[in-house]
Amino acid sequence: MTRVSLVFFFAMATFMAAAQNAKQVKMEAFIDSLLQKMTLEEKVGQMNQYNGFWDVTGPVPANGDAKMKYENLRKGLVGSVLNVKGTANVRKLQEMVVKESRLGIPLIFGFDVIHGQKTLAPIPLGEAASWDLQAIERSSRVAATEAAAMGINWTFAPMVDISRDARWGRVMEGAGEDTYLGAKIGVARVKGFQGNDLSAPNTIAATAKHFAGYGFAEAGRDYNTVDVGTATLYNVIFPPFKALVENDVKTVMNSFNILNGVPGTGNKFLQRDILKDKWHFNGFVISDWGSGMEMIAHGFAKDLEQVAELSANAGSDMDMESYAYVTHLAQLVQKGKVSMAVVDDAVKRILRVKYELGLFDDPYRYCDAQREKDMIGNADQMAAVLDVAKKSIVLLRNETLAGGKKLLPLSKTQQKIVVIGALANDRNSPLGSWRIGSDDSSGVSVLDGLKKYSGAITYAKGADLVIGKTDFINEVKINETDKSGFKQAVQLAKTAEVVIMVLGEHGFQSGEGRSRSKLDLPGVQQELLEAVYKVNKNIVLVLMNGRPLAIPWADEHIPAILETWQLGTQSGNAIADVLFGAYNPSGKLPMTFPRSVGQVPIYYNHMSTGRPNPIDLVFWSHYGDVSNKPLYPFGYGLSYTSFRYSGLKIDDSNPAAIKVAVTVTNTGKYAGEEVAQLYIRDKVASVVRPVKELKGFSKFSLNPGESKEVVFTLTDQELGFYTAEGVFITEPGEFGVMVGGSSDSGVTGVFVRK
Ligand code: GLC
Repeated sequence: MTRVSLVFFFAMATFMAAAQNAKQVKMEAFIDSLLQKMTLEEKVGQMNQYNGFWDVTGPVPANGDAKMKYENLRKGLVGSVLNVKGTANVRKLQEMVVKESRLGIPLIFGFDVIHGQKTLAPIPLGEAASWDLQAIERSSRVAATEAAAMGINWTFAPMVDISRDARWGRVMEGAGEDTYLGAKIGVARVKGFQGNDLSAPNTIAATAKHFAGYGFAEAGRDYNTVDVGTATLYNVIFPPFKALVENDVKTVMNSFNILNGVPGTGNKFLQRDILKDKWHFNGFVISDWGSGMEMIAHGFAKDLEQVAELSANAGSDMDMESYAYVTHLAQLVQKGKVSMAVVDDAVKRILRVKYELGLFDDPYRYCDAQREKDMIGNADQMAAVLDVAKKSIVLLRNETLAGGKKLLPLSKTQQKIVVIGALANDRNSPLGSWRIGSDDSSGVSVLDGLKKYSGAITYAKGADLVIGKTDFINEVKINETDKSGFKQAVQLAKTAEVVIMVLGEHGFQSGEGRSRSKLDLPGVQQELLEAVYKVNKNIVLVLMNGRPLAIPWADEHIPAILETWQLGTQSGNAIADVLFGAYNPSGKLPMTFPRSVGQVPIYYNHMSTGRPNPIDLVFWSHYGDVSNKPLYPFGYGLSYTSFRYSGLKIDDSNPAAIKVAVTVTNTGKYAGEEVAQLYIRDKVASVVRPVKELKGFSKFSLNPGESKEVVFTLTDQELGFYTAEGVFITEPGEFGVMVGGSSDSGVTGVFVRK
């Protein structure tokens, strides 16, 4: 860089910093002056959030919650509303508050924009399988663009709860079992949602949730007790939240579960000591739905008044649907049980986010009905969600058959393809369970997608998956007995050159409140698979599921298996593109697939234990009836081509930046993308470290025969760890290194960190 350009660069940097500082000063002055004008009741109002499942473009309801809510809206006793759909409804509520309340402080509208608003991307666990941070960021920007166009300012996402238990229904909502990957993906999602300017029409405030430990619910049962050691808390659970705070996430949602015996909403250690004091989080904390009130059921608060006192003092700034603050907080301040300073801090945090969203400049900036029409489901949005959907698909098996051929990719001249399975003809299930802002059955089914490639497709359902009424709130009822469609499906399968079987879970079998005690194919699907296999072994199994499944029989018998999660609006097109080879699958598992639910929790970055290896007695860490090995490991995923890793080089001359280089070659006949993964093992440490830990990854394309050198840098950030007291340390010693296309294989080496 020349001297002139260096001077210019620094001048610009100084100018921009000064401008940012001036903006900050102006915002703080505005907020302080507004705060001075507010009564205690109006301050408490900002800390109160209501659900908006009521139609505000109709007449004001005569009684019930809605009437009370309208009255409080008009009195300025509500700071936020969630679940309001569309600009007309948002504008109606905003006008009510801005024009009728004394100070006219605008509402902030929150919504669960988890993987899209109207146009849906894959469920987050599926997107995580893409390991493509750019595609994930773009997907979140699509979601933000549509949500903002529909009047929404704030999403309750990304969920960054690490989980190792596929029984827990909400694994679909996160990025899987690994802290390093989960943090990187969480940051990409926040950047996609928030961008660099919250007041822009295509950005919304994000939420790091659920703080903390929710993914460690005992037995995978949602809302269940969480009891983890502090080394796990600091090294596994906290880092994704800390990364999001360091990347300016605007809000954090606390969690339903207890941690060390204290519920998240009333947990001062989490919300004040760690989040606000140690990490300097300057946004605001929102409770989870009714999580304040649930502290009574937990046995932590005796009544709603104590809920308000404990929550406010512990650092929960806004109350979602417990009505604790709006009912009791003002009196608690008057009684001296909660200080005005606590209330002022919470209110300022909330007002800052509203200010950054531009709501004080123009409360109706997100209420443009024309923009809503232009931005929803346009070609750009559809292209983005199709792209990330294709990249999320994981090829689990593609065996070479007798005669040297593989079933995948299918050839367009394939004579006779039979498709079997209720999910193949389902435009609803692929949307997943978090799709409140979208329309039921607005997805592209597998049959829809396949028809673009081949006219010679015939279909048989084989069996219903769901027999109960599918209602987005209630559990779906699974068909456990009706096999009346088997005969027709088996007859059809006999005539096929290839049978594509689309099996798995209904979209409402995972998600919040949807834990399962088994991980096999639900209902009669396993029997259907085996019945078809008896007459035709050329089966491509397409899995649609919201969690890892235990499918050992399929792994042993079925020559081709594709993991397609729930891929959102463009599901069927993405699956068809992969089946016919228009896109070479590149996904890698973000979560371990077990052989049996009995192995759960099972994860790759486990500790060694004192008896890790088989001995000729039973006295080592194992099961008598199943291997310790997973069915498919974290980071695993095949391609239509193949990749070779060679030439590992480690340069540990600079302990502050250890370089690890490897050469990756495409040794097959298809171009394809690979995710090179770097794992380390700290062999001896003052806190036992996992047998391997992901500390770097890179996704890239290679043409047949092409090679690429991939270089990773290991710094203290990657080599260090937290002690049980929460102190981050690094220690000298020997480290193992492995670089490969999965957590269970690669080229290995060793270095010594001085
Ligand atoms: C739910 C979820 C939370 C969601 C909130 C609002 O219970 O736990 O993730 O954002 O309520 O819908």
